[in-house]
Amino acid sequence: MIRVGINGYGVIGRRIADAIVLQPDMVLAGVVKVKPDYKARIAAEKKYNLYATDEKSLKSFSEAGLNPRGMLKDLLREVDIIVDASPEGVGAQNNQIYQEFNKKAIFEGGEEHELTGLSFVAQCNFDEAKGKKALRVVSCNTTALCRVLNSLDKSFRIKRARAVIARRAADPDETSKGPIDAVVLDPVNLPSHHGPDVRTVLPHIDIVTMALKIPTTHMHLHSLIVSVKEKVSENRIIDALKETTRVLLVNSKDGIKSTAHVTDFARELGRPRSDLYEVAIWADSIKVIEDEIYFYMGVHQEAIVIPENIDAIRALTGRYSKEESIKLTNKMLGIIQ
Ligand SMILES: NC(=O)c1ccc[n+]([C@@H]2O[C@H](COP(=O)([O-])OP(=O)(O)OC[C@H]3O[C@@H](n4cnc5c(N)ncnc54)[C@H](OP(=O)(O)O)[C@@H]3O)[C@@H](O)[C@H]2O)c1
Repeated sequence: MIRVGINGYGVIGRRIADAIVLQPDMVLAGVVKVKPDYKARIAAEKKYNLYATDEKSLKSFSEAGLNPRGMLKDLLREVDIIVDASPEGVGAQNNQIYQEFNKKAIFEGGEEHELTGLSFVAQCNFDEAKGKKALRVVSCNTTALCRVLNSLDKSFRIKRARAVIARRAADPDETSKGPIDAVVLDPVNLPSHHGPDVRTVLPHIDIVTMALKIPTTHMHLHSLIVSVKEKVSENRIIDALKETTRVLLVNSKDGIKSTAHVTDFARELGRPRSDLYEVAIWADSIKVIEDEIYFYMGVHQEAIVIPENIDAIRALTGRYSKEESIKLTNKMLGIIQ
């Protein structure tokens, strides 16, 4: 059994914890939180071993009537692998203590590629991560772009990819973030960071991206134009994407015409927290004009990186093949394909 700890129990950390509990080859050794709020109480109700970040945090837990097992450093003694799901930039600061305890570590997309030198998307580069000391699971948008571009590149050899990303402004619980009534150019100075981030996983892809923040919380929407070297048709693209794991084809003929409909569809799947681990691509948006493929895809930002984190844990052990790990993760999370 692989013993895993999670440092940071927010949007991503909570989901990774629940996903670990479902795996037959993993044990959740504990989760680390700063504040003793409702999320900490729910973790305690789920019988997860709760740890505080530091002495100050430990004191606040005790005052709130929660009984943490100790602090981060105590959890580190118990684990084979630590997953750092702390806020953007905090992971880089935590890296020092993971190294002191000589622990394998997984960081999230808010950290820079340079922190580990290895940016991970399971179906693209699982083998590169086998047995390594640390890696970074890339952000939600980069994960989606890599899954889809890797598939199109293998089937049709990409010449260049261009994407405009309409980004959700905030996660549903982020009450202090906007915009409420604006579209924010994010960034104004182009291109956005997403293209270079894709190249940390797929270095040979020529990709340029633009991004906007829009007043919604449930999904990102990507508009893509991908130019390819092979002769291609809409049907061949659909066949290639059907064969690609963690990609879900949806259709406006079934009434799915917006990110709200995709979210509603995900609710009907009955997954925990209505999570959609797959990238949703509108099959009937796929259009070929000369050598260019046009299409739309939706990304559930809170969920898409969860299967990647589970595969990342197995990759660091060096004991699994890519196919074994992806198959097992998909089965345990109920991923459609
Ligand atoms: N949210 C997304 O849509 C999304 C998608 C993909 C990737 N990511 C990446 O995933 C990572 C985590 O993001 P998130 O959205 O899950 O963040 P989040 O919801 O803000 O959760 C962060 C967690 O880290 C804890 N924390 C705060 N300061 C800490 C510190 N100094 N040391 C240790 N833990 C600390 C927080 O504890 P308290 O709750 O007690 O304050 C909270 O549990 C980031 O790298 C982010 O870029 C996020």
